[in-house]
Amino acid sequence: MTVADQAKTAPLRIAIAGLGTVGAGVIRLLNTNRDLIAARAGRAIEVIAVSARDRTLDRGVDLSGYDWEDDMTELASRGDVDVLVELVGGSDGPALAASRAALSAGKGLVTANKAMIAHHGLSLAEKAEEGGVPLKFEAAVAGGIPVVKGLREGTSANALTTVYGILNGTCNYILSEMEETGADFSETLAEAQKLGYAEADPTFDIEGVDAAHKLAILAAIGFGSKVDFKSVRVSGITQIRAADIAQADALGFVIRLIAQADVEGEGKDARLLQRVRPCLVAKDHPLASVDGPTNAVVAEGNFSGRLLFQGAGAGDGPTASAVVADLIDIARSEVGAPFSMPVAQLQAFPPVEPGHRLERTYLRFTVNDRPGVLAEITAAMRDADVSIESLIQQGRANEGGEVLVAMVTHEGQERCVRQALALLEGSDSLTGEPLVLPILRN
Ligand SMILES: NC(=O)c1ccc[n+]([C@@H]2O[C@H](COP(=O)([O-])OP(=O)(O)OC[C@H]3O[C@@H](n4cnc5c(N)ncnc54)[C@H](OP(=O)(O)O)[C@@H]3O)[C@@H](O)[C@H]2O)c1
Repeated sequence: MTVADQAKTAPLRIAIAGLGTVGAGVIRLLNTNRDLIAARAGRAIEVIAVSARDRTLDRGVDLSGYDWEDDMTELASRGDVDVLVELVGGSDGPALAASRAALSAGKGLVTANKAMIAHHGLSLAEKAEEGGVPLKFEAAVAGGIPVVKGLREGTSANALTTVYGILNGTCNYILSEMEETGADFSETLAEAQKLGYAEADPTFDIEGVDAAHKLAILAAIGFGSKVDFKSVRVSGITQIRAADIAQADALGFVIRLIAQADVEGEGKDARLLQRVRPCLVAKDHPLASVDGPTNAVVAEGNFSGRLLFQGAGAGDGPTASAVVADLIDIARSEVGAPFSMPVAQLQAFPPVEPGHRLERTYLRFTVNDRPGVLAEITAAMRDADVSIESLIQQGRANEGGEVLVAMVTHEGQERCVRQALALLEGSDSLTGEPLVLPILRN
């Protein structure tokens, strides 16, 4: 029986795959707010069966009332379940197998899995459409912030000009801690790992991949594009030094990892630009005050103007809140197209080569402390048509040692900065890769 066939007042029967941070959080929330949820949903939401790797683990929640399934695919296709809640994680593997099995068996699917939706969201949405069943993933982007709903429903009457924001709590925690303490990246990452703000293997977070997964999902919803994770241009935060944070501060900026998407051109000439990169953000921009593990998303609509969504981007409570909100929508039969329009209407926008885009840029060079180096750098800028707005040379740390040169350019084409760096490539004046950070427009 599909969800659509369910009597409107019968309980919505769910199976939960994955009982970690989010899975246990969902059970806690369903138990704590049971009556409120039933009243809002118009019927009870009932957990029938669960699955995870280790049956013996104490998860801090009582599982005795639920059936246990070792095999997640079996769990997904049980006859007495209406919706699978997938909280395992990973773009492929058991999460994807169980999700496909659920949709094939005519079940609805709720997931918090951004990696899976970024990679396989379209094929899952097609399967959901074919079966006439819901697919929902509010928790996959920005944890407890209802930004998927915000874009699918709240801004649905608008043509969006841009969607951007802070989508990774680990990076934001690290950058705002570096700002606070003056410590360097690796030291702050180690501290974040100790406090549980960063995973033991933080690669996906600090290299920007996690934010790119979420951006690809938001772009699809916001612009009606086919989810296109592969075209996201990604750079992470590992190159940011304490000195960059201090320079940015002196210039009136903070540094944040910004994920941003917009569409350029119209009709068949339309192109999609999606990128994740650390940016300088002016201290009076709303995103500059987003500190710690908080997430925030800005959406600019042609009629709504600028909207700001902000809140906890992770954690058991906020993420469970988003998962259960999806379940309440399903219980109410409030389900639309997962990406805000049917898959056949989503467009495949080719990616933009952004060299012609205009932006101001922060550049940081580490150079040998010897005469003529500054002249070499400024000559490269001049030859590539990059106009320097301000330049700071930091005092050397030791005699004949490394010196830091930081500059901000006037607004100019991105390709000019790249040309200037190409002119400096191989120069023995430079002691390391220059750092290039765009300045986010206010
Ligand atoms: N944590 C957050 O704040 C947050 C926020 C937003 C979205 N999400 C997303 O939510 C999902 C779950 O995250 P989480 O933090 O709850 O993860 P987690 O704490 O690592 O929990 C994962 C659960 O999946 C089970 N599992 C993993 N691999 C399995 C396998 N091969 N077979 C069977 N079970 C398996 C684990 O079983 P055992 O417990 O038995 O090992 C565990 O119960 C992920 O997609 C994540 O990206 C998380």
